[in-house]
Amino acid sequence: MKISIVGSGHVGLVSGVCFAEKGHEVLCVDHDKDKLAKLKRSESPFFEPGMPELLAKHQASKRLHFSDRTEDAVDFGQAIFICVGTPSTERGKADMSFVEKVARTIAENLKDYRLVIEKSTVPIKTGERIKRTMGRYIKGDVNFDVASNPEFLREGSAIEDTLKPDRVVIGVDSAKAESLLREVYKGFDCPIVVTSVGSAELIKHASNSFLALKITYANWLARLCEASGADVDEVVNGMGLDHRIGKHFFGAGIGYGGSCFPKDVDALAHISEEIGVDAPMIRLISDTNKGQLERFYNMIERELWVLNDKTLAVWGLAFKPNTDDLREAPALRLIEKLKAAGARLRVHDPVAMPNTRKLHPDLYYANDPIDACNGADALIVATEWPQYKQADLAKVKATLRVPMIFDGRNCIDRKRVSELGMTLFGVGKEPVKPGE
Ligand code: UGA
Repeated sequence: MKISIVGSGHVGLVSGVCFAEKGHEVLCVDHDKDKLAKLKRSESPFFEPGMPELLAKHQASKRLHFSDRTEDAVDFGQAIFICVGTPSTERGKADMSFVEKVARTIAENLKDYRLVIEKSTVPIKTGERIKRTMGRYIKGDVNFDVASNPEFLREGSAIEDTLKPDRVVIGVDSAKAESLLREVYKGFDCPIVVTSVGSAELIKHASNSFLALKITYANWLARLCEASGADVDEVVNGMGLDHRIGKHFFGAGIGYGGSCFPKDVDALAHISEEIGVDAPMIRLISDTNKGQLERFYNMIERELWVLNDKTLAVWGLAFKPNTDDLREAPALRLIEKLKAAGARLRVHDPVAMPNTRKLHPDLYYANDPIDACNGADALIVATEWPQYKQADLAKVKATLRVPMIFDGRNCIDRKRVSELGMTLFGVGKEPVKPGE
């Protein structure tokens, strides 16, 4: 089947290469010509494991094409996925101007039936609005359908998540739209959940907010553990083994970040309030999440007493492992606060250093994790990359000026720290101190 994707960001590009991998012929459109030039050289515009390989494979198989014209997308695919950005404006309201512009362009260039599918994360009723807008701009008597097919991929495992999803949700209001979307997903081995367009739109926002709520619950438990002497990992493990609760996305730390959870939680609260349903619980998720980083920073400040002129090593900059994405990264906020307090920072991240350097050219970018520790008064772990979990802690101890670690992700081996006589402060746990 011929599929068009408008917007070749994380969602659009990953969907495009994965549809090609499943045998479809795909045209990916983006207005950014530099990005398209990179894509044609099979270079991924962002770090995503497996992306360069699939770009190369399917340009060679001639199943993946690129264009900078939305008009080409209208001619090419019977199914047109809208994957453009929906950035946040004030109090979480999503900016829908990119989606609206694509809908208008599709309508103005429509010659035959097309199925227009919203895949960007959009507020409830966006499908209705796209339909209404298209109806106004269409020339002549051409049919179309609008459907919703939300995306559940995670950065860092996006290709795996897309090729092997837990489920595919399709929100449709016609049999033709359902049958075309079933055709798109015929090679996928997972349940296909068919809903109304509005339900599909809500499933996306509600899923992200639920996961953010679950993380926030773990972070709140961490506070309770700190105050009571319990251990948050023991508590969430004991709870998570109950299948009704589950262990995933139940890890305490310095809060969630990224381009999705913070934006989508605020957007759900905004949408809800806009249609007259108070959302104090959803608003609280966001506030509690921000407070988590503050608490961690306060702990560092309390322990180190004076930050001005201290040298601190920071491991991890990206908002989570396996990505170079810094959007809403807790590590970045932490760095800004530490810098403002006068600390000198030696930072390391396996892939996010080039992006960080653009924002903070004045930091020391270490060659490796141990180099970051060189002469530092303490080590702060802000992202749980596997290489940090496996780091040689004896070397870390020998390299630091003071053998003290602040672990914002509870990923450092506490037993080993204790054996080595180092000090470790985690989240929701008793500190490890020499001789204890
Ligand atoms: C998230 C969702 O997981 C995807 O299903 C969704 O498709 C995507 O948003 C989206 O809307 O596009 P992503 O933002 O890539 O994916 O990252 P996650 O793996 O969900 O992590 C989000 C944040 O939560 C990270 O900062 C991570 O460190 C944090 N987190 C995650 C925790 O603090 N604790 C946990 O237990 C799990």
